[in-house]
Amino acid sequence: MDQSVTTRDGSSQTRRAFIATQTAALVATQLPAALAAAEPAPGAPGEKLAKQGGPKAVRSKAGAWVRWDQREKDQMSAAVDQASLFYWQGRGANKQTALFIERFKQVCPREHVVTCSSGTAAVHIAVAAAGIGPGDEVITTPITDIGTITGVLFQQGVPVFADLGAATYNLDLKSVERAITPRTKAIIAVHLAGTPCDLAPLRALADRHQLVLIEDCAQAWGAKYRGQPIGTVGHVACFSLMNSKHIGAGDGGVVASSDPRIGPALLKFADKGNDRMLPGYTWDKTDVLASNYRMSELQAGFGAVQLQRLEALAAKRAALGGLLAAEIAGAPGVILPELHAEDRSTFWFFYFRLRLDRLKCTRAEFAEALRAEGAPCSAGYIPVPVYKLPYFQKHGFFAGRWPIKELGLTTMDYTKVACPEAEAILATGIHCTVNESMNETLIREIGAAVRKVAQHFAA
Ligand SMILES: Cc1ncc(COP(=O)(O)O)c(C=O)c1O
Repeated sequence: MDQSVTTRDGSSQTRRAFIATQTAALVATQLPAALAAAEPAPGAPGEKLAKQGGPKAVRSKAGAWVRWDQREKDQMSAAVDQASLFYWQGRGANKQTALFIERFKQVCPREHVVTCSSGTAAVHIAVAAAGIGPGDEVITTPITDIGTITGVLFQQGVPVFADLGAATYNLDLKSVERAITPRTKAIIAVHLAGTPCDLAPLRALADRHQLVLIEDCAQAWGAKYRGQPIGTVGHVACFSLMNSKHIGAGDGGVVASSDPRIGPALLKFADKGNDRMLPGYTWDKTDVLASNYRMSELQAGFGAVQLQRLEALAAKRAALGGLLAAEIAGAPGVILPELHAEDRSTFWFFYFRLRLDRLKCTRAEFAEALRAEGAPCSAGYIPVPVYKLPYFQKHGFFAGRWPIKELGLTTMDYTKVACPEAEAILATGIHCTVNESMNETLIREIGAAVRKVAQHFAA
């Protein structure tokens, strides 16, 4: 709710306005001086909307988005020269997976790193290695890709949805705490849109209740929590290399842990129960049921080059997202995303919310007007929170049935689940594309478009 807070200069603001102001100040301090000194953008508030025949606020175009080039081709060619494209280095000549893991450890220093076929596979491996079994509860967010949840269900665990911070869109600590029961075994924290969850209190809570904290970093390559690389605060971290992620290999995933209970178990859950790296490994030592989630040498080689591109593109996205926040700060009816001063979001996308009670338009009209201005924006993210998906509402996960519910191992009823803040985040949000093909002029123009549309519709 909108409470009043008193600022350091003694004036009174609503809490939301305060968060917005703080965020703008924070992101402004993170901007390189060169960005901050650029000329004001066109599209002044008061100008006729482009939708009504006025000039477009966004006149610049993004540059060519070169995501891979000769470097990846050279690496592919080196891989093709190998006699085998299988990840296992036991035969000695296979180099790509080893190279990927070496470079991944520079980005996310964890002792055990396993490549796999997708982000969905990475989370499934993490959940299985964490020992999640029938009826075990795993607390997570209702705003995420379904890949966060699938592995929990396949292990016969129970996804439990906690509510989110109004402006972080990430797990709210108090809501997570309230969701803990004697059956809770893990928390999956998703760093939505590239913005880190507040990990330290989540880790403390997990440790207090002997829960495993899994970081789903699929959308947060290159992000930092209080200066630390994303994926290094939880017990286990999961990443996706799916095509639309910051870096990719067409598809792919990585799961990593330094926890002595979890790390050594990761590989077998990625490879049908086999740990081929164990000295003296034999097939008949396999002791767990697991799927085949292996990644080939080709994807690993491609990903190894992509990892070398990561820091530059993460830094650019962080600066451009920060600039956009600063540009739209104070626009009527606009609530900025919240980012801690010591964290780095790498803005897989930029998401802001509307105060529809302060605007004379619907969210759809706001988004449509932005698009007409030429801004790469749209209404919302996923259309409904995960628990509202039809197969959750029907508890029909396995051929229309949910055995653990039939057996009385859970009383979960997704028709009764409600996370009001998550629902409001989805109902009032505007999604903007930010990526490294853009420059500050374009971002300033998008900012001007948001200000212009917000001004036009201000109540
Ligand atoms: C937060 C999150 N987790 C998991 C996944 C699943 O990744 P993949 O598509 O590689 O299976 C995604 C993909 O979008 C994601 O955004």
